[in-house]
Amino acid sequence: MKIIKSISEMQNFSHGMRRAGETIGFVPTMGYLHEGHMSLAREAKGGNAKSVISIFVNPAQFGPSEDFAAYPRDMNGDLEKCETAFVDAVFVPDAREMYPDGFSTHVDVLDVTDVMEGTRRHGHFRGVATVVLKLFNIVMPSRAYFGRKDYQQTVVIRRMTRDLNLEAEVVVMPTVREPDGLAMSSRNAYLSPPERAAAPVIYRALSGAKKLYDDGERSAEALAGSVRKVLAGEPMVELEYAEVSDAETLAPLQQVTAGAVLAVAARIGRTRLIDNILL
Ligand code: PAF
Repeated sequence: MKIIKSISEMQNFSHGMRRAGETIGFVPTMGYLHEGHMSLAREAKGGNAKSVISIFVNPAQFGPSEDFAAYPRDMNGDLEKCETAFVDAVFVPDAREMYPDGFSTHVDVLDVTDVMEGTRRHGHFRGVATVVLKLFNIVMPSRAYFGRKDYQQTVVIRRMTRDLNLEAEVVVMPTVREPDGLAMSSRNAYLSPPERAAAPVIYRALSGAKKLYDDGERSAEALAGSVRKVLAGEPMVELEYAEVSDAETLAPLQQVTAGAVLAVAARIGRTRLIDNILL
């Protein structure tokens, strides 16, 4: 497994692969890898000649009062996991490599960032879209793999890929969950034992709303209301939003038609978690 720190070396590696006619499956990550990431890595390895993972905690997607400094990091553990998944190359640039002095270009994806996370985490998707475009230009993937847990992120990246005619095919994989339903996330590491015990209520609330939908409920307010009610029963959880949106445009819905997503953000202590379910 190659460990590559410089952009030029990564581009040389990828050029070599692409010239040899080999496909590259790419998993961009911020590290602290868990089973959700590894399921993407396996998919990238299985569906392409070569697989590449990037590990870069991207400062540009954290707001000033967010958890950039505290974000969990474990480079040695991550590299071991990549070895085990037979990843061909791991790209581990530092911030100066990605954002040298004078860096001044950003990607803003409009409309689909006007809701949900976009209205609570100002500048977050600008940071995500900018780094993902840079990573696509550096790694030159044939396919890039993202988890559905970050639903709005997948919509933003698909939109950018379409609008800017990027070559990479964006592949979105199902959320990987702990046995009790909690969506896997590097941020779960922040949860204290009592908070961790409370956290699965988020998925229980989403699953309850999905059951209502499957039983015929089509009012977005009723579905979001059922999430609010379940979460209100767990004092450790503070709901930020529960929103039903069109799965492609993310436009808020009043009546749920086919292809909708119910997304939630909630705080448990100092940890902010997001999750969603497709209706
Ligand atoms: O989902 C993430 O871990 C990050 O937002 C990503 C896509 C790696 C960009 O930094």
